[in-house]
Amino acid sequence: MIESKLGERVFSTPDIQQRVQEVAHHISADYSGKRPLLISILRGAAYFTMDLTRHLTIPFDLDFMSLSSFKTGFKKIEIDKDVSEEMANRDVLIVEDIIDTGLTLNFLFRVMEKRFPASIAACTFLDCPERRFIEVPVKYSCFKIPDIFVVGYGLDFRGDYRNLMEVSTLFDPSGRSTQILKQMGKGGTK
Ligand code: IMP
Ligand code: MG
Repeated sequence: MIESKLGERVFSTPDIQQRVQEVAHHISADYSGKRPLLISILRGAAYFTMDLTRHLTIPFDLDFMSLSSFKTGFKKIEIDKDVSEEMANRDVLIVEDIIDTGLTLNFLFRVMEKRFPASIAACTFLDCPERRFIEVPVKYSCFKIPDIFVVGYGLDFRGDYRNLMEVSTLFDPSGRSTQILKQMGKGGTK
């Protein structure tokens, strides 16, 4: 059972659903009268994107992009699958699973700016500001997390756990994640 390797629950399904709905309402209000082009970054953001878009009350277009990154001393990011929609003069909203170092989002901003969108902003399910290498503007985020590795709701560990409906840590024998979660008043659940 892969579940046995999980650590503690960080965000429950009802908490996630409520927060995703709130963020969708903010986006609907901010883009009122517009038709944003949402660009979901595969594969991690797929689950978040589906739930988020179901709660939007504005018209929108949806497209997907897939990236690959290699660690060869520094992180090299490349586009695996590009969008099909034109970005010129569009209000582009990037939808991500987690902003960690910020390198991926920074790469996306640089690539997309060259395509002359009317505006460009980012919406992420999780934001981990403590692990940031490079400053990036994150307009919408559902939850901030401390410096812990999490899985579920699209986030994977070597391909596993994406389909979990809640967000958990991986089992961490050092107890570090548990300690950090305790300081936040979270954890203690399986
Ligand atoms: P970064 O912001 O360029 O470091 O890249 C973020 C990407 O790394 C995300 O899109 C995830 O695919 C992956 N990632 C970062 N932190 C985690 C985590 O805690 N769990 C699972 N994947 C993560
Ligand atoms: Mg990702």
